Amino acid sequence: MAVATRGGRGPGLGAGHSPGSFFSYRIFVSAVFSLLFLATLSVLFTTRPYASSSDPDVAMTGNAYVHRSFLALKSDPLRTRLDLIHKQATDHIVLVDAYTAYARKLKVENSRQLRMFDDLAQNFRDLVSKPAYVEALFQTDGHVDEEILRQFEKEVKDKVKVARSMIAEAKESYDNQLKIQKLKDTIFAVHELLLKARKNGAYASLIAAKSVPKSLHCLAMRLVEEKIAHPEKYKDEKPKPEFEDPSLYHYAIFSDNVIAVSVVVNSVVKNAKEPWKHVFHVVTDKMNLAAMKVWFSMRPVGGGAHVEMKAVEDFNFLNSSYVPVLRQLETAKLQNLNINNGAANATKDFNNMKFTNPKYLSMLNHLRFYFPEMYPKLHRILFLDDDVVVQKDLTALWSIDLDGKVHGAVETCFGSFHRYAQYLNFSHPLIKEKFNPRACAWAYGLNIFDLDAWRREKSTEQYHYWQNLNEDRTLWKLGTLPPGLITFYSTTKSLDKSWHVRGLGYNPSVSMDVINNAAVVHFNGNMKPWLDIALSQYKDLWTKYVDSDMEFVQMCNFGF
Ligand SMILES: *[C@@H]1O[C@H](CO)[C@@H](O)[C@H](O)[C@H]1NC(C)=O
Ligand SMILES: *[C@@H]1O[C@H](CO)[C@@H](O)[C@H](O)[C@H]1NC(C)=O
Ligand SMILES: *[C@@H]1O[C@H](CO)[C@@H](O)[C@H](O)[C@H]1NC(C)=O
Repeated sequence: MAVATRGGRGPGLGAGHSPGSFFSYRIFVSAVFSLLFLATLSVLFTTRPYASSSDPDVAMTGNAYVHRSFLALKSDPLRTRLDLIHKQATDHIVLVDAYTAYARKLKVENSRQLRMFDDLAQNFRDLVSKPAYVEALFQTDGHVDEEILRQFEKEVKDKVKVARSMIAEAKESYDNQLKIQKLKDTIFAVHELLLKARKNGAYASLIAAKSVPKSLHCLAMRLVEEKIAHPEKYKDEKPKPEFEDPSLYHYAIFSDNVIAVSVVVNSVVKNAKEPWKHVFHVVTDKMNLAAMKVWFSMRPVGGGAHVEMKAVEDFNFLNSSYVPVLRQLETAKLQNLNINNGAANATKDFNNMKFTNPKYLSMLNHLRFYFPEMYPKLHRILFLDDDVVVQKDLTALWSIDLDGKVHGAVETCFGSFHRYAQYLNFSHPLIKEKFNPRACAWAYGLNIFDLDAWRREKSTEQYHYWQNLNEDRTLWKLGTLPPGLITFYSTTKSLDKSWHVRGLGYNPSVSMDVINNAAVVHFNGNMKPWLDIALSQYKDLWTKYVDSDMEFVQMCNFGF
């Protein structure tokens, strides 16, 4: 559930800086799509020789145009730079906000530090929404004033420097405080707070979700640029027969984060006894598909393992007359359009509106309810989140006895935590009638599905039934866990806890013995291993599977 959890990285994502993030994201998307478009053009020109023989003039000017525009874009120096600087500013707002929340929860209310974080966040916000900058840099379609950009860059850089040094100082003391006090309740409370912040409207959460750290963003850009520079090297490959071979071990990984996916795949392969029998089905969004393909083409997985890469859009059966979430998102989009009319007007670029819609992200999240249709030939599939690391050979999961159940997962409840009552609205008569509020919840992250049992139990229909009832969000609020708990209520088999150990993204006191014994560890929570705010004691578990020899990883300053 990387996509969803990433959405909750910072509370207080108010209107203060949203227009800025909005623009910067749009600029990024436009840039990527312009690049992709040009790439397509150049592929067309280079793969259709007859065009040049029959009409040399057109082809020549076409090519020249492509070259010129591409160079202009690639070297356009200002737009790209503006985009990167602005992104850096908004990313730091999220980061500083996260630290402010932690400081507050650690009850350092009166401390100098908390005040400084607060001030810093405010300063950042003022900076990116300063009318002089907004007008000269973000609301212009053409020329960016270099002088003003330079000034903006300098101000952002100064603030980033301050933020970095404050975070470095705070991080140490917070990590220690967290360790010493074992503030489990506090941690839960912060987690809840962040969840709540995420629920504060799709718009704010979308911006948080989109506030990808600069390094991830840089990596995706580099990969796309690589494809544009060498289109002949990155032709689409034909589907392999292994993709549909039910005797192999199949994984589903749905993510828009290239480096995270590469870590998951790498960690599986490195720990597999027979890697050539493992098949990864990676699904991403349209925007990241090219980047993913280039990555796995430049850095093929070892051991003869197989990787299939697709975009959500490639699954034609997912249309809004069939999929409740898509229908609901369309309704939400209409409402959103009304609310955000101002922003839409300001940029007059209606075409890009659809990328500000949570549809792509959310459909990627809800894909997990469609395995039997996505992979009709398969009998079992293992679903992995993109924030996990695999530490053992997992093949036993394909032969584990699920007692005829559809789904196997590790349960997460203890005491009164993580029971159904926490996820579903038991004041609702339908929920009350069907479910036990004390029933133990499980987690996504590592889930084995028996697709034949799924087809027999008609689990997708179950899911559709409830998702349709929840149009007004009275049964549950957001996310995929509540509908998952509903859909697989009586069809889940509990797996041994060592299969899936969670909490590495928020809980500083997970025992190292438990971690070392785990088949899969999960960085659920906001402190993802690829972020600055990662808990340092767990970071190596993840970074040791990062392909740090890869030139773009080095170029993009991941700092692992
Ligand atoms: C939507 O998909 C379903 C199957 O998933 C199909 O039967 C239906 O014809 C599709 N509808 C449209 C409008 O494409
Ligand atoms: C948006 O554009 C429409 C038509 O161009 C105009 O009537 C409306 O006042 C504009 N809204 C805002 C908030 O600028
Ligand atoms: C829970 O369900 C009841 C009954 O439908 C409804 O009145 C209430 O608003 C719901 N609670 C939430 C938080 O949606």
